[in-house]
Amino acid sequence: MKHIVVLTGAGMSAESGVKTFRDHNGLWEGHDVMRVASPEGFRQNPELVLDFYNQRRKQLKTVQPNQAHKDLANLEQDFKVTIITQNVDDLHERAGSSDVVHLHGELLKIRSTGNPSDIKTWTEDLNLGDNCDKGYQLRPHIVWFGEDVPMIETAVKICYAADILVIIGTSMQVYPAAGLINYVQPDTAIFYIDPKPAIQGRGNITVIAKSATEGMKDLIDKLI
Ligand code: OAD
Repeated sequence: MKHIVVLTGAGMSAESGVKTFRDHNGLWEGHDVMRVASPEGFRQNPELVLDFYNQRRKQLKTVQPNQAHKDLANLEQDFKVTIITQNVDDLHERAGSSDVVHLHGELLKIRSTGNPSDIKTWTEDLNLGDNCDKGYQLRPHIVWFGEDVPMIETAVKICYAADILVIIGTSMQVYPAAGLINYVQPDTAIFYIDPKPAIQGRGNITVIAKSATEGMKDLIDKLI
């Protein structure tokens, strides 16, 4: 079975009703990134940061996987599929994908500020004073700006082994995630689905300048 590796970004969930970060009216337009998504921001105003992610967590309960999430899950009938997502939502899992690596953390998990390996599932609001067993404040299990991306080495190894790389709905602006495209083998076919693609088609890169749901239809025609 051929191994398809899929790198997804916020555009993957846009048609589910989750805002992207950098599009017009995107999430970062209304927020100062460094205040809500950095360790410094959390030190300065933890309530603001917790509230920001509480809102995201609440919204996640109101949205559903879209057809593109479902199509990726269905690809498992014909391919080995590994999804590397920059998204912190659980829409790939809910659509039925069985192998999902979260590069930037997960909204439905929290961890101890005193013990990073103490990670728990958390579906409700997280507030100041919610502590781990050892008494440390709990924080969202999200990779903030300036923090390490612990899953990047795993993701690089997965990309090395890809027969096909599919990139969906990412502006390719945030590293190290955007750099993963450089870790596939030189002859690996790359498909990039995005209505405003950040890179051009060339050599082994085919650009499908469409939304995730429309682009997935084209991709399935090409692959199956
Ligand atoms: P961006 O907001 O930077 O980019 C979203 C991409 O999705 C853009 O290229 C859009 O053109 C595309 N897009 C919009 N609607 C789409 C649709 N219906 N179908 C397909 N694509 C669509 O989001 P990311 O590239 O995911 O990190 O951003 C990367 C990281 O930056 C995020 O994981 C987040 C952010 O800061 C953290 O918060 C840690």
